[in-house]
Amino acid sequence: MTNSNPPLLTPIRLGEIELPNRVFMASMTRARTDNPGLVPNRRQAQYYAQRASAGLILTEGTWPNRESVGFIDVPGLYTQEQADGWRRITDAVHAAGGRIFVQLGHTGSSSHPDLLDGALPLAASAINPGLKAFTPTGFKNTVTPRAMDASDIARTVEDYAKATRLAQAAGFDGVELHGINTFLIPTFLYESLNQRTDGYGGSPENRARFVLEIVDAMVETWTAARVGIKLSPGLTGVGNLVAGTETLATFEHLIAELSKRHLAHLQLMNPVSDLTGTPLEGLGQDVARHFRALYAGTLIANGGYSFETGNVLIRDGFADAIAFGAPFISNPDLVERFRANLPLSPSDRNTYYGGSDAGYLDYPRATEPAGQQ
Ligand SMILES: Cc1cc2nc3c(=O)[nH]c(=O)nc-3n(C[C@H](O)[C@H](O)[C@H](O)COP(=O)(O)O)c2cc1C
Repeated sequence: MTNSNPPLLTPIRLGEIELPNRVFMASMTRARTDNPGLVPNRRQAQYYAQRASAGLILTEGTWPNRESVGFIDVPGLYTQEQADGWRRITDAVHAAGGRIFVQLGHTGSSSHPDLLDGALPLAASAINPGLKAFTPTGFKNTVTPRAMDASDIARTVEDYAKATRLAQAAGFDGVELHGINTFLIPTFLYESLNQRTDGYGGSPENRARFVLEIVDAMVETWTAARVGIKLSPGLTGVGNLVAGTETLATFEHLIAELSKRHLAHLQLMNPVSDLTGTPLEGLGQDVARHFRALYAGTLIANGGYSFETGNVLIRDGFADAIAFGAPFISNPDLVERFRANLPLSPSDRNTYYGGSDAGYLDYPRATEPAGQQ
């Protein structure tokens, strides 16, 4: 697009806050929280502050309670110590002129007993998702989880509310509910992993109930304008998570319900595989094109976008902003590079998860900001 005023570089209002551009940083787990309390550290503050020119930063997925842990060295937001650690980060991002939402996510059955002091992971039903979990001793096969009973559901909803309260106290500008991949929420949404016969299974309305209860609890705790959600409605064929004949209807129902709630945003992640021949075939590659008509609020598209394709999607009215993932790992100044039409640096996958500052804090800017050396 050769337009002199590209849509991605125009301001947008998100709930209660004004953002200078529509180039958002998508959530990315980097597994650098290497302490037993899972307290985010100074290196993370530096990493996020380096990326503060993003219209909005969405943090790495963060645990809302102890039971949701499903990976090593990922931070939590369920203790005061963790909230104090996050305060360092929100202060650093705000001092650098940025805005930041924390993403709250529960791994569900994609976790492993080795990460849960031997306890079984939780899920909608007792169905092994058939995945590999990253444990302290390497990758292990997932196990058959424990189906959540009514008290597990109530406690988990309450834990999201508590984490939202801690997020507010820690100085975040908002929270995003992680509803993607094979984590806890999709185990409720997909018939292949949800065989419940109570009010949380058996129909699109029932399968969407759990996630809506969490959203409502988070909204009640803070306010709708500070709560967003990320979904991956084009996901299928990942382990035993397979789209069925009611999966699309479930997402359509859920997104129409979310539209009524006047949230900060809905973020939709594109498929990571070819949907030809699956029940999700009609979605196409840009899922925002399918769901835009169902959602009246701010819609963020994510997955595989460039400056050019992102601008076209916004210009055509299918999204309001784009969340960029991998490009933000290796281009801390992604916004400035887009603005100046500078080339992007490739990221090194070997340093995505865990390790030192290499591949985390040392990706250079293309140009130093004015007034800094
Ligand atoms: C290293 C890495 C870690 C990620 N961790 C998360 C995460 O914690 N939460 C999440 O919602 N998505 C996560 N994602 C997915 C990204 O947010 C994004 O949806 C995906 O990379 C597609 O966007 P892109 O094509 O612009 O990279 C991760 C992606 C990468 C590359």
